[in-house]
Amino acid sequence: MNYIIGIRLGRMGRRWLPWQPMARVFSGIQPTGDLHLGNLLGAVQNWVQALDGEDDALYCVVDLHALTIPKDPAELRAKTIEITQLLVACGLDPQRCTLFLQSHVPAHAELGWIMECTASYGELSRMTQFKDKRDRAEFVSAALFTYPALQAADILLYDTDRVPVGDDQRQHLELARDIAERFNARYGDTFVVPEHAIPAVGARVMDLQRPDSKMSKSLDSPQGTVLLTDDPAAVVKKFKRAVTDSDGEVRFDPATKPGVSNLLSILAAVSGRTPDEVAGDYSQYGPLKADCGEAVAELLGPVQARFAELRDDPAATHELLMLGAEKAAAVAGPVLARAQRALGLVPSLTRRG
Ligand code: TRP
Repeated sequence: MNYIIGIRLGRMGRRWLPWQPMARVFSGIQPTGDLHLGNLLGAVQNWVQALDGEDDALYCVVDLHALTIPKDPAELRAKTIEITQLLVACGLDPQRCTLFLQSHVPAHAELGWIMECTASYGELSRMTQFKDKRDRAEFVSAALFTYPALQAADILLYDTDRVPVGDDQRQHLELARDIAERFNARYGDTFVVPEHAIPAVGARVMDLQRPDSKMSKSLDSPQGTVLLTDDPAAVVKKFKRAVTDSDGEVRFDPATKPGVSNLLSILAAVSGRTPDEVAGDYSQYGPLKADCGEAVAELLGPVQARFAELRDDPAATHELLMLGAEKAAAVAGPVLARAQRALGLVPSLTRRG
């Protein structure tokens, strides 16, 4: 943590400590689309692993970010609850981390505005995700453009040290770091400058039908996307039909053999080995596909069982979200107040924190 006996240590101060202080980990996920194997192996599994260490972890379902593209309200509500339950089912134990909804902690929106005042128009214009979505969206909301400023607020509100995210979030994270540094330079040391933590293995699970594209909620490739809620028969079938290539050799080589390499990395991530080690066990595609399907179905079995229990008890989910929001707000409030003070906003007598 960033306070040692009441003294706030900036990054530079922390470097001189003789011991490694507890790190704060934060990440977020949008409640849109269905959670799939790429989310599990690329992000959520790393989040769960972080709970085993000493770190203090916060995970946020970023429902405000989901509003950047208009959504059906009933669907947004249902997806938000479903994704929360799936995250818990995957192992994000709310006793060991802080799991909450972004909209339950108003400090996100408040610091989001401040971040919009700190990021530049040019920086936001260069975001590839914005350019991509702008070209595909029917309605280009202003928030689609300022999205990364809200994301920076999410991260900086918690004095976050590490942000475990997929490779596609690298640019947003760099921006959050730049904004933090700019704010600190303008107004004095206020925010911790976060590092990203992009996992080496399993970071990029590709679509089983289009192995040149990342498995994605939005790709619209039902046969190429393995959902966390797919039953075992469907999982095995999707792997059996996975696109490979015609040269017949099992070898890990993502550039020339994307389909086969994807299967090898998935099996490697599920079994805790390297893709090259896995490749050594196979000489044909058929058995590789079959084993991959079975290993994934086995991984998903307990997740689905736990999810079914949670779905049957929605009150318990609301309760855990309430507790999560309380824990998150207790951290975010003082950080927001610190930023407001640094900016010269006059403290209100009723302001929290
Ligand atoms: N933009 C992220 C994504 O699409 C989601 C996100 C929002 C996030 N806020 C965050 C991720 C803060 C990490 C930290 O995946």
